[in-house]
Amino acid sequence: MDFFERQWSSYRAVVEHDLMEHRAVANATATAIDAWLAARPADASAPRLVDLGCGDLALLAPLLQRLPLGAYTGLDQAAVVLPMAQQALGSVAYTTHWLEGDLLAWARGDLDGGTAAGAAPATTDILHSAFAIHHLDDPAKLTFLQAARKRMSPGGLFVWVDVFREPGESREAYVARYTQRIQQGWPQLTTEQQEHVISHLRGFDIPADRAAIAAAAEAAGWRWHWAWQGTHQAEAMAVLQAA
Ligand SMILES: C[S@@+](CC[C@H](N)C(=O)[O-])C[C@H]1O[C@@H](n2cnc3c(N)ncnc32)[C@H](O)[C@@H]1O
Repeated sequence: MDFFERQWSSYRAVVEHDLMEHRAVANATATAIDAWLAARPADASAPRLVDLGCGDLALLAPLLQRLPLGAYTGLDQAAVVLPMAQQALGSVAYTTHWLEGDLLAWARGDLDGGTAAGAAPATTDILHSAFAIHHLDDPAKLTFLQAARKRMSPGGLFVWVDVFREPGESREAYVARYTQRIQQGWPQLTTEQQEHVISHLRGFDIPADRAAIAAAAEAAGWRWHWAWQGTHQAEAMAVLQAA
């Protein structure tokens, strides 16, 4: 196995043992999207959904298969996961698009041809991202929030699942406590798998401070609502709509 495959197979083990509460996340995501769909006018067109950092869709596929979508776009910077996602989703009644690229570039309209001839990038009705945006540094998260706001259609819904720091907690303190959580509370993983997750966490994870990011999002024109909180003061789901 190459580096990515080893890291991915360790992440798969995390998901299978529900160590980051992916099952509760999937239920909370379904509840948020179902409530938004139920509140739409009966004659609204079938919504388009963009999924940033879609991964292999191992958990989201059952929900996506039953949603009455008009189109689904799965975007990920790792090209290798896209065929896995396509296979997990299977045959659906709506159009699907698979994009290899960076989620910040998508928000800016650099990926899907929206800037041609000065045209505004296409908007989306539902934006979803799970456990991907925390890879951006804090200024890039802010740029993302500002740019993504412009890519939402009126009344659109942004479901943001991620890991977050406690208000005022430093990244070092977060990494230390999450590392301890893995070493002491994840016996389902082998030592090697634990090391993969810990080295990824140390190298790439920059979770937002939950209070600061909610304030920054509101300043960028979003209404912010915490829709689900995990049991470890890290995993959480926020639902955002244009203010
Ligand atoms: C932890 S996985 C989560 C996958 C899936 N959303 C889930 O909840 O199981 C993070 C995914 O985001 C992708 N990713 C990370 N940073 C990204 C970026 N800047 N742009 C696009 N994809 C990114 C990774 O390649 C990976 O597939």
